[in-house]
Amino acid sequence: MKRRDFFTAVPLGALALAQVKNAAAQEAPLAEKTAVQQVPFLPFLQNPGTDSMTVAWAVGGRATGYVEYGETAELGKQAFNTLAGLKPLDDTFLFARITGLKSGTTYYYRAVTIPYKDDNKPAGEPVCSPIHSFRTVDPRASRMSFAMINDTHENQAILKELTAKLPALKPDYIIWNGDILNDVHSAERTIASLALPAGVFSAESPLLYLPGNHDCVGPWVHNLSRLMVPWEQENPQERALSYNFAFRQGPVALVGLDTGASSADAAPAWGGLIAHEPYRAKQAEWLAKVLKRPDIASAPFLVAICHIPLFEPDQTLNGGDTTDDWARFSRQGLTLWGPLLHKAGAQIVLSAHRHALRREAGTPQRCWDQIIGGGRDLDKDAAIVFGEATTDKLTLTMRQLNGTEYGVFEYKPRNFKRNGIRRV
Ligand SMILES: [Fe+2]
Repeated sequence: MKRRDFFTAVPLGALALAQVKNAAAQEAPLAEKTAVQQVPFLPFLQNPGTDSMTVAWAVGGRATGYVEYGETAELGKQAFNTLAGLKPLDDTFLFARITGLKSGTTYYYRAVTIPYKDDNKPAGEPVCSPIHSFRTVDPRASRMSFAMINDTHENQAILKELTAKLPALKPDYIIWNGDILNDVHSAERTIASLALPAGVFSAESPLLYLPGNHDCVGPWVHNLSRLMVPWEQENPQERALSYNFAFRQGPVALVGLDTGASSADAAPAWGGLIAHEPYRAKQAEWLAKVLKRPDIASAPFLVAICHIPLFEPDQTLNGGDTTDDWARFSRQGLTLWGPLLHKAGAQIVLSAHRHALRREAGTPQRCWDQIIGGGRDLDKDAAIVFGEATTDKLTLTMRQLNGTEYGVFEYKPRNFKRNGIRRV
């Protein structure tokens, strides 16, 4: 089934709204299993690589599962997420990472779910999702595109309208730049506002997830990584850098950074459970290294992505480094990451969090433009930021859902000579 058909076949609004009502009616104690039953098994793509892809989906009841895949719709191969020889068994989410793929190649896949009883015996026949397709990352591609949505905050109406625009854009990647949730409260709300929508709009265009400050708190937050699968880091000692990624698709190198919570680690609101200050410092060490990686360093365009803006013209505003609520920007990110991105000649930092489209043009001291995504007022500031690039030009379009165009901006390839980088 083609993705466009799938959007028609699965009414996102009705589906997700039903789940929200269900969740509200059946708010279960945390220790209990999810109360959501009969969740449609809608797989979506994450962690795209030149030779790998992750597929995750919600199950809403005890189940095991795997992914069938292949270079034709006949499939033929299987990928399991095993640990110590055990196949997964989970009440909420399943995922499988497909490896050993070829770069720039189309693959077909489907998720297979097998319901289980509490005694670990099968409770029914395997249920197969529709067959979808994806393409693996291809650094040699001639073009690249991405679409960014952000700050959807469990608002199903906005999510429905935003994602309805995505099929026409046909982005290679869909960036969901944080504050997907109001807090990570429960399995039910995570399924309704994250897993099921992603299963509709990101079954064929991989989702690039950047945590927002609202996505890193809440009573169920420690379970989120079972759905939003951490990236595999090249260096096993950097495994704690869960949502950092750097890959190149065609002319664009994309680098994902995690700005974390919106105030200092010591803020009473975090209950002593946040350690984002050392996390941001570790990311700076990682960033310095990946920006020198040949595939990243040689890309004509360098685009970094993080939820909380790095730059704010008024430096007296809350920079997230106090125990006060709600940072306007990430002073630590600006201090530690900003100069590295400048030195590398990054053209764009895509951010979110401020709930209104905004562009802070680069300066001689900060070569990157800061682009801030839209808000959550359907008639006013909800927006999609869309980028498409060839080797000669990257065009960024910032457009509100109401049709108002904030701006279209064109970027030239990085100045490799100035940056001391040899173009390959
Ligand atoms: Fe935010």
